[in-house]
Amino acid sequence: MTTKRRILVTAALPYANGPIHLGHMLEYIQTDIWARFQRARGHEVWFAWADDAHGTPIMLHAEKQGKTPEQLIAAMHAEHLRDFDDFGLSYDNFSSTHSETNRGLVERIWQGLKDNGAVSSRAIEQFFDPDRGMFLPDRFIRGNCPKCGAEDQYGDSCEVCGATYDPTELVEPRSVVSGARPVMKSTEHFFVTLEHFRNSLKDWVRSGALQDEVANKLEEWFGERLRDWDVTRDAPYFGFAIPGHPDKFFYVWLDAPVGYLASFAEICQREGLDFEDWMRPDSPTEMHHFIGKDIIYFHCLFWPAMLEAAGIRRPTGVYAHGFLTVNGAKMSKSRGTFIKARTWLDHLHADYLRYYFAAKLGSGLADIDLNLEDFRARVNADLVGKLINIASRSAGFIHKLGGGKLTAELPDPALYQRFVDAHDAIAADFEQRNFQGAIRRIMALADEANRYIDEHKPWVLAKEAGREAEVLAVCTQGINLFRVMMNWLAPVIPHTAAAAAEFLNASLDDFDAIDQPLLDHAIARFKPLLKRVEPEQIERVLTSSRESLEATPAAITETSAAPPAAATAEDTAMIEFPEFAKVDLRVARIVKAENVEGADKLLRLELDIGSETRQVFAGIRGHYDPVELEGRLTVMVANLKPRKMRFGLSEGMVLAASEEGGKPYLLSPDSGATPGMKVK
Ligand code: 2FM
Ligand code: ZN
Repeated sequence: MTTKRRILVTAALPYANGPIHLGHMLEYIQTDIWARFQRARGHEVWFAWADDAHGTPIMLHAEKQGKTPEQLIAAMHAEHLRDFDDFGLSYDNFSSTHSETNRGLVERIWQGLKDNGAVSSRAIEQFFDPDRGMFLPDRFIRGNCPKCGAEDQYGDSCEVCGATYDPTELVEPRSVVSGARPVMKSTEHFFVTLEHFRNSLKDWVRSGALQDEVANKLEEWFGERLRDWDVTRDAPYFGFAIPGHPDKFFYVWLDAPVGYLASFAEICQREGLDFEDWMRPDSPTEMHHFIGKDIIYFHCLFWPAMLEAAGIRRPTGVYAHGFLTVNGAKMSKSRGTFIKARTWLDHLHADYLRYYFAAKLGSGLADIDLNLEDFRARVNADLVGKLINIASRSAGFIHKLGGGKLTAELPDPALYQRFVDAHDAIAADFEQRNFQGAIRRIMALADEANRYIDEHKPWVLAKEAGREAEVLAVCTQGINLFRVMMNWLAPVIPHTAAAAAEFLNASLDDFDAIDQPLLDHAIARFKPLLKRVEPEQIERVLTSSRESLEATPAAITETSAAPPAAATAEDTAMIEFPEFAKVDLRVARIVKAENVEGADKLLRLELDIGSETRQVFAGIRGHYDPVELEGRLTVMVANLKPRKMRFGLSEGMVLAASEEGGKPYLLSPDSGATPGMKVK
């Protein structure tokens, strides 16, 4: 018997101003499978998390809805809980960061940071909305990109040319809140000196708590001075006031991870556990955080530094996963692939998604694609066609010929033993969060179980007089193999496992209880445990998603003050031909090319497309001598909506090939093509 571990598990906290979608569910399902697995191993497990309730977006969102932030977060909390319950998440507490327990812990950590000399203050200049009387986070300022001139871009980055910049560089800035032109204003802010913790952070990073890829990324960040972290936001703000400074608030990202501890403290209170014992730096207990790869900086630098400052234990593990794509692309409202948890539940079983995610999740940071066709095929083939089929093929005969009782012996104990022998490898996969590895092994065994039944053909034997005992033995073997696999899969598909436990008349909550087969044991009548996924169900999910989200504007979320941790999933959707056919590609002759004053990447091109001449600004300056371009043929998108830029109107786009960020190669048709020819 291994020693009983004491484990606290968390998933990242969802913002309390939006619905739960499948991107969230990927992480929650991953966390839940691991928590359930550890519980089924006999360990003490507490799964604690909360809504991330503070910040400017939540404050403004509530205002827009004519609610107080407290009302908004209470409504979202109830909605989130319902989604989690219906997805079978086995959390022990789902709290809110807007709680007195959290405030107390935040203040304790703040005091620790100050006592460590890791807090400084200085005046900063920030954009201020004079109409609304509030300082504006970068995401709440829009204006023209200082690099390419594109209109209506965010305060920190341009969606057209990809440039990142300081909001003060924006041309014609305006406040998203009131539309007013923001003014620069000085304000005193507190900063946490991360450098103070450099050495201990470096030790921790190599302590085995992180995936190798994450540890390597952090080493890169250690290559430079760690930037001070601005943890202050000025009133009005929905959050916790900084003690002694009633007009200054803690930035939401300071109190968010503390929410893990506050949620757990509530469990301790409820269950009579010793919170302080769990939290001391040398505690033998474990604390594991599951997060997305975009918030590594917060969890692997800021968070351990905060904990150290307060004399609280560090995480045993922080595990980042990749982003979710649907059908190979970023979730998209127009394609209907921005799927809310509730929309999924309205049309499809929770265990389908749990199984599919498990089958795709490894222990690394790779993005996970939910390809809906592959999803349907896989769930139908694996769960319905292989796994449940074993039980449904065997159960009927046990009742018809054996009064519902399994035989007293297995006809093929060696086969059963082969299953048992796979146990340690499967458990190791679960432990390492290599769920896809575990599923692969289990499904290979399911194939073996089906082969066994195919070879022994109980349905043929049953027709022959005097062979009832053989039929019962074969089916007992089948039911027992099914039981072993279901036992392993219970953390993944808990609803199906609960129904299977009823059918088997045996519990499936002890991961290791498979050495002894079920013999001479009465089982219940078989009821279909899971139906096939039908194409119409998927269609309905897409249609409902399109309908319910089309009108919803994208929520503005808190952005990080930290460097982006990883590349985002690229939007590389497959498109149907009619969509492609909408693009009007034309052969164009460059009749004039010249540098653009004040834009070091742009050339202004005049393009003859037969019927008319177009002006296009192209980001190819520095790669071509404008004079040499004149007279050359190229290809342009002729029906791109004209875009007003600082330098004039851009009426289309020329096509060029390039490596990411590399030299562009302007496309040209073979000689003989003439301006205006349609490219197909
Ligand atoms: O990125 C997010 O959605 C944040 N709400 C995650 C917070 S996780 C933790 F730090 F609280
Ligand atoms: Zn730009």
